[in-house]
Amino acid sequence: MAIPTQPQTSEDMQAPVSVRDRVVIFDTTLRDGEQSPGASMTLDEKLEVADLLDEMGVDIIEAGFPIASEGDFEAVSAIAKRIKNATVTGLARASFKDIDRAAEALRFARRPRIHTFVSTSPLHMKYKLQKEPEEVLAMVTAQVERARKFVEDVEWSAEDGTRTEMDFLCRCVEAAIKAGATTINIPDTVGYTVPEEYEAIFRNVRERVPNADKAIFSVHCHNDLGLAVANTIAGVRGGARQIECTINGIGERAGNAALEEVVMALRTRADILPYRNKIDTTMLMRASKLVSAVTSFPVQYNKAIVGRNAFAHESGIHQDGMLKNAQTYEIMTPESVGVSKTSLVMGKHSGSHAFKEKLKELGYTLGDNALKDAFKRFKDLADRKKIVYDEDLEALVDDEIGHAGERIKVLALSVIAGTTGPQSATLTLDIDGKEATHHSTGNGPVDAIFNCIHALVPHAAVLELYQVHAVTEGTDAQAEVSVRLQEEGKSVTAKGADPDTLVASARAYIAALNKLMVKRLKTRPEAIEPNVRAVTP
Ligand code: KIV
Ligand code: ZN
Repeated sequence: MAIPTQPQTSEDMQAPVSVRDRVVIFDTTLRDGEQSPGASMTLDEKLEVADLLDEMGVDIIEAGFPIASEGDFEAVSAIAKRIKNATVTGLARASFKDIDRAAEALRFARRPRIHTFVSTSPLHMKYKLQKEPEEVLAMVTAQVERARKFVEDVEWSAEDGTRTEMDFLCRCVEAAIKAGATTINIPDTVGYTVPEEYEAIFRNVRERVPNADKAIFSVHCHNDLGLAVANTIAGVRGGARQIECTINGIGERAGNAALEEVVMALRTRADILPYRNKIDTTMLMRASKLVSAVTSFPVQYNKAIVGRNAFAHESGIHQDGMLKNAQTYEIMTPESVGVSKTSLVMGKHSGSHAFKEKLKELGYTLGDNALKDAFKRFKDLADRKKIVYDEDLEALVDDEIGHAGERIKVLALSVIAGTTGPQSATLTLDIDGKEATHHSTGNGPVDAIFNCIHALVPHAAVLELYQVHAVTEGTDAQAEVSVRLQEEGKSVTAKGADPDTLVASARAYIAALNKLMVKRLKTRPEAIEPNVRAVTP
């Protein structure tokens, strides 16, 4: 039997303000976030993210969609087994097969929740489900009752809730609660609503549904119009007490409401938004960096809270004000989100202790082995580059995290480039412990390198994106290359960093291939198996 975990129950809603205004944070980085095209994570990466979310104080971790693939099932089960504090949930459609699979994945969770959903808008019912409203209503009762056979904690979501007719929405919510749902989520699936409307939806449903006091209401906002965070807060003002969000706002299409933005808005404007949660905000930067590194999704420089420029002041007027009193231009301190004032300058004489401290300052905590490898690479870099900036270290560590445990590694690369073609490359890879070398020409050096990779590891994936950016200024800057590969509708993104752009390109492509292999291994092991071919140049 599941242990009810909600710090807030329907009785709490009648309780003093301090209990009534507790909002629970439901993180769906590993489910809705991972649904972003190219944002796939390996099992180890998902475990690392889940551990961090738990440590940070997230109340509910949505670990995946167990029926979606073997990989998702494995991830949800592994996360369910290890998470100590948070409730762990898995998503299920309105089918018994989905719900049973979710229950199986959550079997060993200390606090399991099944999250089941069905579409309720006229558009979705007609075209997606091809069902009449009365049939959908019957599905609501059946799906929640089925989930309640396994766990006490059941969340029901009205997919496309914000485009659902109010009367029908109320009937579905009432049926779901009657069948045993303890949380009711009204998602803005397509990012269509605006704050006033979303707030009114919650007020209306809570007023009109007779058993509404028996469940906690939840917000789930997508960012198609850039309103996800504003809508989330409006939903809370309308009476929702669970917030569904993701780190860095990753998610389907334009993404979901960003956890760090919602949490810091509630904290910074507690004067008018008196809703408490238990997130340790000093871990926000660490979480952002980890998710960015494992998904290879860059965080835009001006992103609120965790962007590189979020606390940078460059104009003279601002700098002058800041020196006189930081509050002139800072509404929250960098320290409150885990950004510490830079104190250590790194160079080739820096030792491993200073390196570790510096990484801590930047928001990274690495395991012993990863730290050792990263330190070795830092020393190499410091030998080659006059000044090692924070951005260099970030690129280096992201690269280290992104490449951990790979089956294929770049061992050596030499390239002939220039005006007199053909350009060519000789690449040596380590593939499952075996060395293999290939020489190839190409239409430019990058093409030649990628041709070598194709020869050494035959695969059908298509290169969708190849992007280079300089990590810092100067001609000795590190290059960070992003590569996105697509195969059978599934895409993965990976990054590689190195002072040599061509080495970074090879590392990025190989990292993407490794990710694709992990993905395929779960469903179709024969799809991309390294085919070791040692070719003498
Ligand atoms: O956006 C959405 O509607 C969802 C549901 C499955 C909750 O992600
Ligand atoms: Zn969603």
